[in-house]
Amino acid sequence: MSDTKIALVTGAARGIGAAIAEGLAARGMTVIAATRADLDVTDDDSVAAFASRYRHDHLDILVNNAGISGGREGQTPGQVDPAVIRAVYETNLFGVIRVTEAFLPRLRESADPRIINVSSGTASLHWNTDPSHGFAARGAMAGYPSSKAALNMVTVQYANAFPGMSVNAVAPGACGTDFAKDLGLSLERTAADGAAIAIRLATMDKPPTATFVSDEGTVPW
Ligand SMILES: NC(=O)c1ccc[n+]([C@@H]2O[C@H](COP(=O)([O-])OP(=O)(O)OC[C@H]3O[C@@H](n4cnc5c(N)ncnc54)[C@H](OP(=O)(O)O)[C@@H]3O)[C@@H](O)[C@H]2O)c1
Repeated sequence: MSDTKIALVTGAARGIGAAIAEGLAARGMTVIAATRADLDVTDDDSVAAFASRYRHDHLDILVNNAGISGGREGQTPGQVDPAVIRAVYETNLFGVIRVTEAFLPRLRESADPRIINVSSGTASLHWNTDPSHGFAARGAMAGYPSSKAALNMVTVQYANAFPGMSVNAVAPGACGTDFAKDLGLSLERTAADGAAIAIRLATMDKPPTATFVSDEGTVPW
């Protein structure tokens, strides 16, 4: 087996995913930067076709980055449109499960397999229930944070199921990507800043498993 690590990043056309792909390539990895056009994480056939076209005998690092906010419309408790929530879950939760299941056989062929799920600090139940934390005070959203909280639990379940694998959730922090602009947010952190924690988990010796981490350390579940 070659020493060059192979990484697959979903949603890598722009934003944090593009920055993760660039960062891993800059560190000498073979990076498959998947875009929605060739790997739509919401589409069973697209994921199956992509996996069947995969020509390497193993995969070392899967970064499940593709994600959507779903926008504010239809997510406010009391005015929820279940179709909006369903669409958010389809990408942020089922998309991750779909891609992970498709690539598990290749990951299990790696000597040092890692799954990095790009979650969000907004998923933290602790922060959302702490009156002194900004999340508790800001406009509630029924879909996006809960999709990422579910993703965190899925992360732990895969970590527990595959003890030889490093499976973690990362919080990139609020970054001024199109994602944030679409929510009307103007943020100083860049996509590269948001990519740093995923790159760290992908490249560090002896990575942890079943953790939820950001640049600043452990994020409370
Ligand atoms: N930005 C933040 O402040 C922030 C904070 C916490 C967590 N996050 C998370 O970080 C990740 C990346 O966000 P970002 O800020 O980089 O957002 P972004 O700039 O909007 O980029 C999202 C990427 O995901 C792709 N994508 C969306 N749906 C997809 C699908 N069905 N199949 C494949 N790719 C799909 C998009 O593809 P297209 O180009 O085709 O649309 C795009 O490349 C997301 O999981 C997000 O939840 C972001």
